[in-house]
Amino acid sequence: MANTLGIIKPDGVRRKLVGTILSKIENSGLILRGMKVLHLSKDDAEKFYAVHEGKSFYKSLVEFMSSGPIVVLAIGGHGSIERWRDLMGATDPAKAKYNTIRREYGTSIEKNVVHGSDSPETAKTEISFFFREDEILPKE
Ligand code: CMP
Repeated sequence: MANTLGIIKPDGVRRKLVGTILSKIENSGLILRGMKVLHLSKDDAEKFYAVHEGKSFYKSLVEFMSSGPIVVLAIGGHGSIERWRDLMGATDPAKAKYNTIRREYGTSIEKNVVHGSDSPETAKTEISFFFREDEILPKE
């Protein structure tokens, strides 16, 4: 019953997709346990994506992720990591399955609207990047 981290990226907020994406989360039975709207500094975007440092897309990714407000989500429910990844679809919108968020709304591998943790370890680290423990609703 681990929580996972979701991010609605600057392209999703700019295009007013927050409500649509939250509806998809609610309708899928996943549980919203934490939510914040914030604007990442370049420094924080660099830290958050530090695992990608040195890759060809890193600089551009950092610019993009600090280019406007984002919504960070602590998402719970049984199998939350996998289920949120299934809702998002593959990283590259062109390769994502139909009816996934990235397939429907993503415009490039960078501007792919949403982020999700890829393992329980990453979920723990990524959630603690944005939320204190007392900012996340306890499991019922
Ligand atoms: P995300 O799930 O947030 O994790 C890393 C992000 O880097 C990814 O989604 C994409 O937005 C971005 N990115 C840009 N180019 C690439 C690429 N070639 N391969 C993987 N991720 C990329």
